[in-house]
Amino acid sequence: MKFFVDTAEIDAIAELNDLGMVDGVTTNPSLILKSGRDILEVTKEICDLVDGPVSAEVVATEAEDMIAEGRKLAQIAPNIAVKVPLTWAGLKTCKTLSEEGQMVNVTLCFSVNQAILAAKAGATFISPFIGRLDDINLDGMDLIADIRQVYDNYGFETEILAASIRSVNHVADSARIGADVITAPPAVIKKLADHPLTDKGLEAFLSDWAKTGQKIL
Ligand code: G3P
Repeated sequence: MKFFVDTAEIDAIAELNDLGMVDGVTTNPSLILKSGRDILEVTKEICDLVDGPVSAEVVATEAEDMIAEGRKLAQIAPNIAVKVPLTWAGLKTCKTLSEEGQMVNVTLCFSVNQAILAAKAGATFISPFIGRLDDINLDGMDLIADIRQVYDNYGFETEILAASIRSVNHVADSARIGADVITAPPAVIKKLADHPLTDKGLEAFLSDWAKTGQKIL
């Protein structure tokens, strides 16, 4: 399973990247706003830092303008994945750019049918939003499972990028289902290491170690 970090905060990406936990990065207009940075500058910095795909999202709503924005974003670095919303204009942009050899991430996916369209349009990644489905009392994880089954039924090669991940359980469940990638905020990825029994066990080991009076170094 690949880990993408869902942020445009350079320091947070660098910290996890140094630990080998970053297979890619996803951004969106809200995350760019949160970073307070210029999209072209910050995206270039992220691409320089990370070897894997870095999603940068178009903001036009008509296909012609989306394609132009996508081509401009693609010029930032070879590891850009142009992110487009799951609209007909976004799908047209996906088809055009993917035929040019460009990685494309189709985002804001909330149904299996949308995921089928993205795969047929040549998407490199489909981003179903788990948390936002949970927010309206639907089960985001059911969507990940459904897309996995349908993609496997037909051999679609589009990678399932489980997005809008809010908890460590979303990560574990995505892995069980077989999502190809998860993208999560840095705080969620850091929490994956936490377990109360790890803390308790370590405390006991250190307490006993102190009683030995020994030192390793
Ligand atoms: O990857 C998409 C993500 O940024 C959306 O997350 O928490 O705003 O639904 P959220």
